Amino acid sequence: MPNLVLYRKYRPQKFSEVIGQEYTIRALTNAISSNTVSHAYLFSGPRGTGKTTVARLLAKAVNCQNRKEGEYEPCNHCESCKEIENGNAIDLIEIDAASNRGINEVRELKDSIGFLPVKSKYKVFIIDEAHQLTKEASNALLKTLEEPPSHAIFVLATTEPQKMISTIISRCQRFNFRRLGVPEIVSKLQRILEKEKIKFEKEALLLIARQAEGSVRDAESILEKVISFVGTDREIKKDGIERVLGMVDSQVILRFLKYIQKKDAKEAVGFLEEVIDKGVDPEQFLEELINYLREFLLLKIDPDFQDSFVLSFTSDELSEFKALITDFSKTELENSLERFIEAKSKMIYSSLPQLPIELAVVKICIGS
Ligand SMILES: Nc1ncnc2c1ncn2[C@@H]1O[C@H](COP(=O)(O)OP(=O)(O)OP(=O)(O)O)[C@@H](O)[C@H]1O
Ligand SMILES: [Mg+2]
Ligand SMILES: [Zn+2]
Repeated sequence: MPNLVLYRKYRPQKFSEVIGQEYTIRALTNAISSNTVSHAYLFSGPRGTGKTTVARLLAKAVNCQNRKEGEYEPCNHCESCKEIENGNAIDLIEIDAASNRGINEVRELKDSIGFLPVKSKYKVFIIDEAHQLTKEASNALLKTLEEPPSHAIFVLATTEPQKMISTIISRCQRFNFRRLGVPEIVSKLQRILEKEKIKFEKEALLLIARQAEGSVRDAESILEKVISFVGTDREIKKDGIERVLGMVDSQVILRFLKYIQKKDAKEAVGFLEEVIDKGVDPEQFLEELINYLREFLLLKIDPDFQDSFVLSFTSDELSEFKALITDFSKTELENSLERFIEAKSKMIYSSLPQLPIELAVVKICIGS
């Protein structure tokens, strides 16, 4: 097995390799090439969407020894770029605000901030999990942000900006990172697999991207899990990975919902039993079922509705869904959804995990 910590190996080394976050990238690269970089930035957004990556790129670019006037990409070859890449750059200080050490480091910032960078033009401070700073540390940081020395750049990164004090937020230039869409994630996974020379079915990547819920890092970690399961010399196939990911095949859900639509309780319950016998976890099944019903309802209201769930299916699968949705009335979809949500809350108390699902089936099909 080759050395494959994918999310580290494929961390973008240039701004042009970052997917999505177009507005942030444009604003930052403009600031770099025109020498108007701010002294404090706040990067907020969900996990695994590029906050730390972009913060490091910014540090690389401002300190790159080969970067010329008017350019913004780091060269990735000079001593400074190399040191940042290897994690031993003395003028890039990364602080994890969630750790005890981080709290001390922020406290000491006030004293050390006055010192000039050792080797580079700028001292860059990346403060991760910035919402976790203690009150004391926040105040210390605030003092520093009030009058940052011209050689310092702060990048605060957080997944929970609502937990940060407004006085800090207002001193930073803020960028919101967004979840990535399925096609964006698929394109990156595809590139990785091509580089690693591993064969794949495109549908398999759609599944991985759906599971990742907008986080590129999660997608890369899932891909890694799949690769270690399948092996690097075999093709990554949709069929094989549903099991690895603990996902339920869309055909299974679809067939079950067809019985529900026909109000055929006997077939539905029988099929459920069959599926569980084959090793599908009832909880997972119900979870996915609710997911599908929710999307079906949204598609019923608006046939053009698109979200990452919808985008993660092939057009054949989607037309199959749409045919079934037409057979359901809106009320039937709502009612089924409600019944299955009810079943979910009952599942934890049930000695037989599939019993609440069966009850819901009976209620939906026969009425209560
Ligand atoms: N926008 C993106 N474009 C390309 N790759 C990305 C992007 N976002 C994340 N990645 C991939 O995910 C990995 C982790 O990203 P990063 O550390 O930047 O996430 P983060 O937003 O800081 O997450 P966290 O909130 O968990 O710290 C990167 O090494 C890279 O492989
Ligand atoms: Mg991060
Ligand atoms: Zn460089």
